[in-house]
Amino acid sequence: MVQYLTMALRGLLRFVFLFHLLTFATSDQSHTGRPNVVFILADDFGYNDVGYHGREHGSMVLTPNLDGLAGEGVKLEKYYVQPICSPTRSQLLSGRYQIHTGLQYGVIRPAQPHCLPLDEVTLPQKLKERDYATHMVGKWHIGFYKDACTPTERGFDSYFGYLSGAEDYYSHSRSFQIGSKTLKGLDLMANKTPAFQYKGQYSTHLFTSKAIDVINNHERSKPLFLYLAYQAVHSPLQVPSKYEEPYANITSSARRAYAGMVSCMDEGIGNVTRALVDAGLYNNTIIIFSTDNGGPINVGANNWPLRGSKGSLWEGGVRGVGFVHSPLLPPSVKGTINHELIHVSDWLPTIVAGMAGGSLNGTKPLDGYDVWNSIRGMDPSPRQELLHNLDPLDVAADFEGDAKCSGKKTTECRMIPGKFNTSMKAALRVGDWKIQTGSGAKYSGDVQVNLWKPPPESGLHTIYPVQKPKQKVWLFNITADPLEENDLSDTYPDVVAQLLHRLQYYYKDSVPPRYPPPDVNADPALHGGAWGPWE
Ligand SMILES: *[C@@H]1O[C@H](CO)[C@@H](O)[C@H](O)[C@H]1NC(C)=O
Ligand SMILES: *[C@@H]1O[C@H](CO)[C@@H](O)[C@H](O)[C@H]1NC(C)=O
Ligand SMILES: *[C@@H]1O[C@H](CO)[C@@H](O)[C@H](O)[C@H]1NC(C)=O
Ligand SMILES: *[C@@H]1O[C@H](CO)[C@@H](O)[C@H](O)[C@H]1NC(C)=O
Ligand SMILES: *[C@@H]1O[C@H](CO)[C@@H](O)[C@H](O)[C@H]1NC(C)=O
Ligand SMILES: *[C@@H]1O[C@H](CO)[C@@H](O)[C@H](O)[C@H]1NC(C)=O
Repeated sequence: MVQYLTMALRGLLRFVFLFHLLTFATSDQSHTGRPNVVFILADDFGYNDVGYHGREHGSMVLTPNLDGLAGEGVKLEKYYVQPICSPTRSQLLSGRYQIHTGLQYGVIRPAQPHCLPLDEVTLPQKLKERDYATHMVGKWHIGFYKDACTPTERGFDSYFGYLSGAEDYYSHSRSFQIGSKTLKGLDLMANKTPAFQYKGQYSTHLFTSKAIDVINNHERSKPLFLYLAYQAVHSPLQVPSKYEEPYANITSSARRAYAGMVSCMDEGIGNVTRALVDAGLYNNTIIIFSTDNGGPINVGANNWPLRGSKGSLWEGGVRGVGFVHSPLLPPSVKGTINHELIHVSDWLPTIVAGMAGGSLNGTKPLDGYDVWNSIRGMDPSPRQELLHNLDPLDVAADFEGDAKCSGKKTTECRMIPGKFNTSMKAALRVGDWKIQTGSGAKYSGDVQVNLWKPPPESGLHTIYPVQKPKQKVWLFNITADPLEENDLSDTYPDVVAQLLHRLQYYYKDSVPPRYPPPDVNADPALHGGAWGPWE
């Protein structure tokens, strides 16, 4: 208890100190109309893993810096991301739904010859047209099999980070199994060069320090776009032990380690903010914070009181932690909560057009909207509808009629021709309504995640849903029932019919999913011991 309070107090003091700095920050107003934008993406950070949610919902995780930044900014509380990594990252950088990029199914695996299609125009490419310096630090995860897929070929002036989806936090090594063969190597790049010399450095410290280098070396004649995509707090659950100390009271070792990882990330974000202040950039900077998907509740994270987990289309999989912090926000919205519907695909038009004053020419038709005026409290969100996803390769098991498809999620498994089928995993939000189709339960083998799981340290009990046998359709009024407790599909068959019609529209508007088989030529052993482009 004492330890817990000491940590809270230390966090508070740290923030008070930071705030003090911010208030007296010097200015850099040389790019009127083109603010610096620092986009911080956390990995697998659950709805109930940020202090300002957790305090009300039995979570002990402490995030004084995030709480401080969000508390002085605009908390986005009707904000959605995709349920897994590559999809969110692809939508952030392209402004387009997965049904339009072929990334509907799964994440990009390290040895898959696959990436965000090369004809997609990216967020940093658009910002370069506005003369931004564009830098990325951290996790890429939208494909790297060809040189043309890699960050510095897709709009970033510089890159330091790892290209795949997960790895060891200290050795920066990644293994991947193809049949009986294990592919293993370093996954850490400085631009295009494998960076072997950082072995042993914990990635949250490493990426924080690289982000601070970008800030300190920034050429002031241009505005800055920095995309900092932390490895934290994705599995494996690894953290220097001192960050776990404040959580000694948490008996679940996974939750304790996860909480420590969050604390370290929070400290890093405090450091990055302080670096912006010290460099004189803060005054003209917009900081955006987002998670990439809901928390994986079986690996330390928590989404309580929301239902479900990472990988699912329940709110716990897709309703994300997000906020915007900036001295450039109108005073009237600072410290407020935004209840407008906002989605990760909205950041490209919001940053390019809204924040940076650029035009949206040259992109393919965007699924995202410019919501900058909504964030600034001037307009309602232009977004009334949100396709969470529609994945024809993820078919509920008992309808997996096509023998060719079962257990073989590759391009050999074609889209089922014809009509949208409720066996397909999909979810759509229209106004208050949310429809979900498919099995509703699958994720990572047979681990059940369509339930309500409280944080272990809360002493509360998991609540299991009552599900009709072979149920394939759920309907919720999310406004009235954000916890998805009352399925209304039997009560409102007309609404179900309308929304299924809309899903059929999106299905017809889809490109086929791409999910190629892994390629042994990706083997790092063939490329100097590091993962990197192989084609
Ligand atoms: C720590 O655990 C003890 C014993 O279970 C409990 O009484 C106490 O309230 C806990 N402290 C916090 C901060 O939750
Ligand atoms: C930024 O700095 C300038 C000059 O010091 C000051 O006039 C302005 O109010 C500051 N802006 C904000 C949003 O703090
Ligand atoms: C933040 O900065 C402090 C002081 O320099 C340093 O000790 C700490 O390791 C940094 N934290 C991270 C996560 O980089
Ligand atoms: C958008 O228009 C600008 C100015 O005409 C041009 O320089 C830029 O190449 C265009 N962008 C794309 C992606 O077509
Ligand atoms: C979906 O497809 C499966 C397999 O082809 C079929 O058995 C089932 O009746 C279809 N369901 C609907 C609602 O069309
Ligand atoms: C959903 O619930 C809200 C809050 O109870 C209510 O105002 C709204 O009318 C409902 N929406 C629909 C479409 O029934």
